[in-house]
Amino acid sequence: MWVVGLDMNEASSRTIGKTKLVLMQGDITRQSTDAIVNAANSGLMGGGGVDGAIHRAGGPAIKEECKQIVAKIGRLDTGKAVITTGGNLLSKYVIHTVGPIWHGGGHGEPDLLASAYRECLKLATERKLRSVSFPSISTGAYGYPVAEAAEIALKTVVSFLRSVSTTLEEVRFVLFDLGTYRVYSSALDRLEGKT
Ligand code: APR
Repeated sequence: MWVVGLDMNEASSRTIGKTKLVLMQGDITRQSTDAIVNAANSGLMGGGGVDGAIHRAGGPAIKEECKQIVAKIGRLDTGKAVITTGGNLLSKYVIHTVGPIWHGGGHGEPDLLASAYRECLKLATERKLRSVSFPSISTGAYGYPVAEAAEIALKTVVSFLRSVSTTLEEVRFVLFDLGTYRVYSSALDRLEGKT
């Protein structure tokens, strides 16, 4: 007998200050938050993974604006963030950031990963956005171990939301596969001392 599984993507949410923090399994290119964050590379000309998915779904307008940015700043340094149109995406904006490539953890990777999340939140707040979606930055092609990355990502976002007055009413982590979702979910439970 064929059992058709419901599309029971897992999700959980907390409130931090005035902002709802959501963890969910899904495809970031289908989110309707004001902005979605792209795990880009310094050249900003697209790539594979979530970078490829966002450029494919968003269309050429995104790359056109990336070209203008590169013409101005040359390259986007690791840990920094820039914003472009969302093109054909449901989101109005894409915030591009570059996470660190994992080289074993002794080359400043944790601080650079924290900076990538913080710079995106600062940019979203400067632009008075109300909602933003993050992928799991650096844990794909850049090889960052997911458990360590999840702890840094959540600590950085929670401490920003607790200490900075922001227009953000919702921050989502949109995790592509169930395994990554579960690692983030346990990391958030640990952060809250639930386990
Ligand atoms: N929605 C949400 N998350 C996604 C999606 C998607 N559509 N597609 C992939 N992911 C997830 C991956 O499963 C992984 O958990 O995004 C996370 C980050 O993986 P990568 O996209 O490989 O990003 P990263 O590890 O930061 O490497 C960036 O890869 O694609 C190139 O140009 C990019 O050079 C840069 C590098």
